[in-house]
Formats: sequence, structure tokens, C-alpha cells
Amino acid sequence: MARLLLIVAAGSGTRLGRATPKALVPLANRPLLAWTLDAVSPVGAERLVVAAPPDRLEEVRAIVGARGRVVAGGETRSASVRAGVQALAPAEDDVVGIHDAARPLVSAAEFEIVLAAAERVGAAIAATPVVDTIKRVAEGRILSTVDRGDLLCAATPQAFRGGVLRRALAAGDATDEAALCEALGIPVETVPVSRLSFKITAPEDLELAEAILAGRGREEERSMTRVGIGFDAHPFASGRPLRLGGVVIPHDAGLQGHSDGDALLHALTDAILGAAALGTIGDQFPPSDPKWKDADSAVFVRRARELAAERGLAVGNVDAVVIAESPRIAPHAAAIRERVAALLGVEDGAVSVRGTSTNGLGFTGRKDGIAAVVVLLLVPAGSGAR
Ligand code: CTP
Ligand code: MG
Repeated sequence: MARLLLIVAAGSGTRLGRATPKALVPLANRPLLAWTLDAVSPVGAERLVVAAPPDRLEEVRAIVGARGRVVAGGETRSASVRAGVQALAPAEDDVVGIHDAARPLVSAAEFEIVLAAAERVGAAIAATPVVDTIKRVAEGRILSTVDRGDLLCAATPQAFRGGVLRRALAAGDATDEAALCEALGIPVETVPVSRLSFKITAPEDLELAEAILAGRGREEERSMTRVGIGFDAHPFASGRPLRLGGVVIPHDAGLQGHSDGDALLHALTDAILGAAALGTIGDQFPPSDPKWKDADSAVFVRRARELAAERGLAVGNVDAVVIAESPRIAPHAAAIRERVAALLGVEDGAVSVRGTSTNGLGFTGRKDGIAAVVVLLLVPAGSGAR
């Protein structure tokens, strides 16, 4: 028993009122059909066929790509379904899932439930509750209110055993395949689905779908947030200025290092590279390269920031801890914050700098040197999360 999928995309979209067939109308800069195919792609199926407008086969093939076959649809939806089912050639007990290209926000999980129901029962359709009060009217005047207690809106996906579907399609035309089953007395199960699977029918439906997709895009962007950590330590060396966070701090010794020894900017550089998974500061700026001798470590930060930007990432915020017995960091924290914020192109409020001692323990406690730890967030550039 195989699972087969048919996407019907051959309609002209009269109610949308565009010159382009509905499945090819752009939705958030891509053809509607592309979104629908993406949405159904997680559904496990052996074969997929798309019924396309007969005069737009090449365009539709380009969208479908290796995901499936494209066949010419017909004048009516039923004719398109027939053409697609013929191409799929389902065996008697295969299950065929049929979905409107015009429902791009379909949930793959709900699709699976409909397929499973059809496997069990023979025929099943996605359905949504009727949420509005329904009126029977004549010439714009209300005749009566329809009891909606036993009403459902038929949606797609609809799924059928191959044998059931063939019998149904032989029975004639209808706006959905379930109607053909009903006419033959074949039981059809309904599967309640989210109303997000709505059908793009009128122009305002495109607006609605675009707003939902834009919201999902923002959600995805937020999930692109990446965290990084950096650590560095340098021994004291007399006869050099002490540079921390790009600021010269009065002290009786500076920090030894191939560059200017700025442990805080090195940890910051490493945190940026770490968050973007770009390796280590040593890979990017080899100490063996004489170019970096006595270099202002600000160049490392700027370069790391550029590399992250090339991947669409910008710094969100930074939390830095300088581990030193002396000098005390607090009097210089504001200046360091300002300098680091300027180097990163963020507001001062996005940078925190603190000092801590190790209460006499370890190399920092013995005043042999200074260490720095930086935790930093990279966010999608231009996301405004800064
Ligand atoms: N469909 C099809 N072949 C047809 C008619 C419709 O494959 N001859 C498909 C549509 O492409 C759509 C689905 O059936 O994905 C649901 O139909 P509907 O929303 O009515 O689309 P259209 O018929 O294109 O739109 P309209 O009724 O406004 O003309
Ligand atoms: Mg139609």
C-alpha cells in the first residue's frame, strides 16, 4: 500500500480576478504553488503529481522540480483530479491525498491525519467548523437562520483509497471528491483541521496569507539568534600600556601578547567568531603573521564583525567579565562599554562590562595576569533586536 499525493493547481482563479492562473499568482514574492508544495513536503508519499493549467506546464514544472510530475489539468476541478489520478495510477488499496494548490498554509501534520483516516475508513476529508451564523437568503433578504450545529466546511486535503476514488470519479463531477462518494453512499470521515488551511479565493485572502507568512518569517528570524562565548588570558609585562576593551588603563604593567595584549577584545573577537561558528581568533589572525605584531586589537573585533555580517548576523548584546586582582575595573567600566559599543556598532546599553577578582586564587589572584570572559548574542542583521 503506497501513499500518493495530488495537488490540483489547474484553476484560473476567476474570483481572484488576476490574469495569471491562481497557482502562479505571487504570494510573498513566490508563486502560491511553491508555498503549497513546501507545506506538503514533510508528508511522507511515494509519488506526487501536480495538475497544472495546460498552457503553463513549463512554468509549473520549474516550480515543482524533482518533487513530482506535472500533468495538464482540465476544465473543471473534477477533470483536473481525473487527469492527476490517471497519472498517479493508484492500486486498489493505495491511498491518494488530494490537496488544493490554493491552500498554501496547510499543515503537514493534519495532512497525515487525513491520510491515516482514509487508510482506515476508505475516504476522509479535512473540515473546519462553521464559525459564522448562516442565513438563508433570497434577493439579499434573510429568509431564515440555518442551524449550524450539524454543518462543517469541507476543505482539503481529502484522501481516498485508490479503488474508492476510481469509483467516485466515474460517477461524475462535483466541487470536491467527497461529494462524489456521498452520492454513491460511500462513508467519508471528517477530520477537524485548523482554519489556517483556508483557500485563497478572493483578493483579501492573499493579504491574509501574506500577513501570516510574514509573522512566521519573523518567528524564524528570531530563532536565528546565536550565542557565543570567548575567553582569553594574558600575563602582565612591564613597560607597556595596559589596554582593556580598547581603553588604556593606568597601571604599573601592561599585558604581554603578540598584538597589544587586550585580553578583553580578544575574548570579544572569539565570542563573535564562536557565535557565527567561524573558528577561533587564531585561525583568522595567526600570531605567526608579523602583520599582527603590536596590532590594535580593535582590528580583530572589526574583522570578526564583518565576517558575521557576511552571514547576515549582527551583535545583539554583550556581557563581559574581566578577571583581575588589580587594577579595579569599575572606575573604567563606563569608558570600556562606550568603546566596545562603538566597535560593535551597538548602543552602550547593549554592552555590560564588569570586573571581578578571584579572591587571591590562581594566576589572576597572584597578579600574574588578567583574564576576560565574554558572552555575546548575534542576531539577524537588520532585525532591530538591538
Ligand atoms: N482546480 C483545478 N482545475 C480546475 C479548477 C480548479 O485544478 N479546472 C483547482 C484549483 O487550482 C484550486 C482548487 O482546484 O487549487 C480549488 O479550486 P478553486 O479555489 O475554485 O480555484 P479556481 O477554480 O482556480 O478559482 P475560481 O473558482 O475563483 O475560478
Ligand atoms: Mg473554482
